[in-house]
Amino acid sequence: MNRILTKRTLTQNVKLFEVEAPLIARKAKPGHFVILRFHEKGERIPITLAGSGPKRGTITIVFAEVGKSSTQLGNLEEGDEILNLLGPLGNPFPLDNYGTILCIGGGVFIGALIYHMKALKEAGNKIVAVLGSRGKKHLFFVEEAKEVADELYVTTDDGSAGLEGLVFLEDLLKERSFDHVFTIGPTSLQKEVSEMTRPHGIRTTVNLFPIMVDGMGMCGACRVTVGGETKFACVDGPDFDGHEVDFDELISRMRVYNPQEKIAMILYQRVV
Ligand SMILES: Cc1cc2nc3c(=O)[nH]c(=O)nc-3n(C[C@H](O)[C@H](O)[C@H](O)COP(=O)(O)OP(=O)(O)OC[C@H]3O[C@@H](n4cnc5c(N)ncnc54)[C@H](O)[C@@H]3O)c2cc1C
Ligand code: FES
Repeated sequence: MNRILTKRTLTQNVKLFEVEAPLIARKAKPGHFVILRFHEKGERIPITLAGSGPKRGTITIVFAEVGKSSTQLGNLEEGDEILNLLGPLGNPFPLDNYGTILCIGGGVFIGALIYHMKALKEAGNKIVAVLGSRGKKHLFFVEEAKEVADELYVTTDDGSAGLEGLVFLEDLLKERSFDHVFTIGPTSLQKEVSEMTRPHGIRTTVNLFPIMVDGMGMCGACRVTVGGETKFACVDGPDFDGHEVDFDELISRMRVYNPQEKIAMILYQRVV
């Protein structure tokens, strides 16, 4: 069970796995995530679904090697098995025919963005998509996005591909009319997009990924403040109204284990 059928390297540190998981594939929808552990003493790693194939009995995940566990995960090969795979977790994205929807995805979450966009397209939406990354060598799935989006913008922090930064979004929001905005990616990007759409009053759905442990509403690790109330992203989300999220608190909570994570990576690099 949970055999890796396909492994692709999308950028230097971003990998795609297609994993055999028929029970999850049958129920999976965009917005869901899984929590996996690949050995007995392994950390629990939450990852958003980037696709599912109910007929083939597979799910697709796209992940970045950012620390010890994700780097170890990226070392697995086709044919290897993932010890535990729990899911689908969380709530699916609130799918609807909104009209014209602006979909903004950044970094490794571009994988999940395409999965969302395909579902939104099937629901009848017109999609204006923005793919953001640090630079050209970190970009992937541009062709896949072109196939789904009615209009596509690429932006990089350093201007090495497409437009530079997010400034153009200000103009886009002023000049055009959008019925809904969806954003997924680094929390700082989601915060910035929410601030940009707030004055225009465009409902903005964000997809949060705070630190999670059990993923089932019991540990409280993933709590976020939304509209002044405490919510658990794993069971109440991970999608929320971006105008209601306390992003500053979320960002500071996501950094809590940074020192331990750095030490774990240094020790791991010494061993391998
Ligand atoms: C709902 C959800 C969906 C996610 N989807 C994706 C995805 O599709 N692709 C992807 O690359 N990453 C995703 N992540 C983040 C991913 O889980 C972390 O990058 C991974 O756990 C890092 O582990 P590490 O040991 O390699 O790195 P570490 O060095 O331990 O951590 C690096 C950074 O990853 C984050 N992180 C670490 N542990 C966790 C944890 N248990 N829960 C959440 N964040 C953590 C922290 O921000 C940390 O600073 C998701 C997280 C959540 C909560
Ligand atoms: S991860 Fe434990 S309550 Fe959400």
